Amino acid sequence: MTDQISIVQKYFDKDHIKSVENFDGHIIATLENAPEDKQKAEALKAELLSLEGVKKASVVFVRQKQQESAGIEKWHLPNIKHIIGVASGKGGVGKSTTAVNLALALADLGQKVAVFDADIYGPSLPTMLSFENTPPVSYDGKMFEPFENFGVKAMSIGSLIDRDTPLIWRGSKAGGAIEQMFKETNWGDIDVMVFDMPPGTGDIQITLAQRIDFDGIVIVSTPQDIALIDAVKGVKMFEKIGIKILGVVENMSYYVCPHCGEKSYIFGQNGAKDTAARLGVRFLGEVPLDTNVREQADEGTPIVAADPDGALSRAYHQIATKIADALKN
Ligand SMILES: Nc1ncnc2c1ncn2[C@@H]1O[C@H](COP(=O)(O)OP(=O)(O)O)[C@@H](O)[C@H]1O
Ligand SMILES: [Mg+2]
Repeated sequence: MTDQISIVQKYFDKDHIKSVENFDGHIIATLENAPEDKQKAEALKAELLSLEGVKKASVVFVRQKQQESAGIEKWHLPNIKHIIGVASGKGGVGKSTTAVNLALALADLGQKVAVFDADIYGPSLPTMLSFENTPPVSYDGKMFEPFENFGVKAMSIGSLIDRDTPLIWRGSKAGGAIEQMFKETNWGDIDVMVFDMPPGTGDIQITLAQRIDFDGIVIVSTPQDIALIDAVKGVKMFEKIGIKILGVVENMSYYVCPHCGEKSYIFGQNGAKDTAARLGVRFLGEVPLDTNVREQADEGTPIVAADPDGALSRAYHQIATKIADALKN
């Protein structure tokens, strides 16, 4: 048997040799992911047949699928030029607020923008963009029409599910619903899609990271330590899958007193900035804590539309400009 293996190794790299078996004088050499060189296979068979007691020799080529994301097919939509994921290590840090205001700010730069809400745990786009309780329409029974408000197209996984029904979707079911909404929407031509990810680093997030053809990810974090630890996990997850981190946005960085105008760093200063530096990712900017942000969000008008010249809008526009520049390169 060792003879036979060493003969096979003369013709094919040993990393490609899956097995060499002898069934009663019939030798079968199985090669995995080897280049299918017929001449070599014939020469190998002839040499095996010259061995004593060998009646028959076969060479079989098999293909094994590549591991990890390399072989995973993307959910590709040719009309969408760029997709930016907005992610956070945990919920409630302002991921959706950032996604929506960023989308509006990118639209202000003249881009055709879509925003997609894939947060199965807490879809909030319907509220934030005023299409709550409005079911999506389909003219052909196959494709949904996206909502369009404040100059951006939008679709939310929340449009599929009942807001008051607690939703526990796991793994493939959640992935399947997101895939369907994402692919079966008539987006039209889009320059940038802002993709609101579910928070955290579980199975569904990994699936999306592998399936969506992201140009890069924006991580949103508050300055608090615990949120930052989660943000670090998020950065590591995307990097492991090979997706570029565009940078970190620090949300609720400080509070400006409406009376005296003094800045208070309630959650500590520079937390996200320092973490970004430590991780070697770009710091995209800070967004202050402002009660108007929440009030406007709840009323269905994002702050960039409600107060286009305010400090908050300026912050989002600066972040949007950095992202648009990053996409050009
Ligand atoms: N900069 C901010 N200032 C004040 N409130 C904010 C700010 N960012 C987010 N919020 C509020 O915090 C809550 C959580 O934000 P949201 O964007 O829904 O978080 P996530 O999508 O991460 O769960 C919402 O009520 C939102 O209006
Ligand atoms: Mg959200």
